[in-house]
Amino acid sequence: MNPPRIVERLTPDPDAERRALVAGLVATPAAIPPKYFYDAVGCALYGAICELPEYYPTRTERAIFREHRDAIAQAVGRGRQFVDLGAGDCCKALAWLPYLAPTRYVAVDFAADAIRGALAKMAPEFPDVELTGVVTDFTRGLDLDADLGPGPATFFYPGSSIGNFTPADAREFLRAIRRHCAPRPGSGLLVGVDTKKDKARLDAAYDDAAGVTAAFNRNVLHHVNRLLGSDFRPEAYAHRGCYDEAAGRIEMHLEATSPQTVRLPGATRTFAAGERIHTENSYKYAPREFAAMLSEAGFADVRCWQDPAGDFAVFHAK
Ligand code: AVJ
Repeated sequence: MNPPRIVERLTPDPDAERRALVAGLVATPAAIPPKYFYDAVGCALYGAICELPEYYPTRTERAIFREHRDAIAQAVGRGRQFVDLGAGDCCKALAWLPYLAPTRYVAVDFAADAIRGALAKMAPEFPDVELTGVVTDFTRGLDLDADLGPGPATFFYPGSSIGNFTPADAREFLRAIRRHCAPRPGSGLLVGVDTKKDKARLDAAYDDAAGVTAAFNRNVLHHVNRLLGSDFRPEAYAHRGCYDEAAGRIEMHLEATSPQTVRLPGATRTFAAGERIHTENSYKYAPREFAAMLSEAGFADVRCWQDPAGDFAVFHAK
């Protein structure tokens, strides 16, 4: 059997990570990067979000994958290295492996525990696949040269996570993927993108009736408290999640419902009642906008599959 190889490439300097987090919190407006949503509770809450009636992206992407499985598999090709960006529990990739028969599966994620557990579970099921986990914050650079072999690679970036980047940063990220593809003929990108749609549906998807998204948003403050030793009172912040049509993005914020004073390492931050901490952008793209971004990033042979209602889009490009 093949024991998974785990490569730790996260900031060798957790203090720098903490300083950056504090800098975002003392700034005005304050912000917390969305990667901090995903502690163990946050991962579980995100799993619950994906099951919500209002949150259509996950189930719609799954339906597109199911409906167009053969056409997508044919576009991707078999026997590639399969690079799963934001692999998490690796579930989405698992469904593809039998159709793509990769030589190597590279799970890339910020959440070390999630990929370690998932790869250990996969190892006995896929004895012929080389399993590698890379623990890194790939939103700050896609440094995979040491982990990829010379053969073709398929980059898998499902779930519309690319929406967390600004469009300019998304374009840069696509270019970085393309740079890995260029010297490896037969490589490509399979990416899921949420589309622009009716504001009422988008608002509901990010502010659900059961309050799961609100819990997910507030949980980031529990995580920050653990990382920084700070004393945020998560219950004192209201969840705001709402679509800005002009900007083409969901914005999530935590809004202090009364004046709050928080002790941070080396600083004290006061939030006025109504003051907000920005926690996430989730950009939505019309399919032709995203196809244009792929072309600008140097990709060709762009193909797109959608559900009948056009709620979500899956792209493959080489
Ligand atoms: C994991 C970034 C794709 O933007 O829809 C879900 C995260 N935030 N509900 C998204 C999220 C609030 C999700 N992504």
